[in-house]
Amino acid sequence: NNEKLIKVTFNKANGEKVTAEGKKGDSLLDVIVNNNLDFDGFGACEGTLTCSTCHVILNQKNYDELPEKPSDEELDMLDLAYNLTDTSRLGCQIVLEEKLDGLEVNVPATVNDARD
Ligand code: FES
Repeated sequence: NNEKLIKVTFNKANGEKVTAEGKKGDSLLDVIVNNNLDFDGFGACEGTLTCSTCHVILNQKNYDELPEKPSDEELDMLDLAYNLTDTSRLGCQIVLEEKLDGLEVNVPATVNDARD
C-alpha cells in the first residue's frame, strides 16, 4: 500500500536528535517501540496510562494542533511527570495523523515512573 509515513523527531535532553517514522494511528510510543529506539525507561506501562514515563514536551503550535486534548487520566499522570510544562503530553496518548508529519518533541532528561 502507499500509506504515507509520518516523520517524528525526538530531541533528547543530551542534544541527540532521533528521527523515526510511523503510520497514521500509531502513538508516539508505538513509533519508539516499532523502531526499536532505545529511550531509557520510556513507556514503562506500555500505554496503559499508569506511568508517566512517556512524557514528551511539544512546542505550542504542535500542542494546539493535536486533535485530542488530554483526558483527565492523562492529566493526572502528567502531574507526576518529571519537568512538567504547559505543553507536556504523554507520548502514548499522541496519535499520529498526516498533518503532524515533521512533528518534533522534546524528551525530558529523566523519567518518573509513577508506579514506583
Ligand atoms: Fe505509561 Fe504512557 S506509557 S502513561
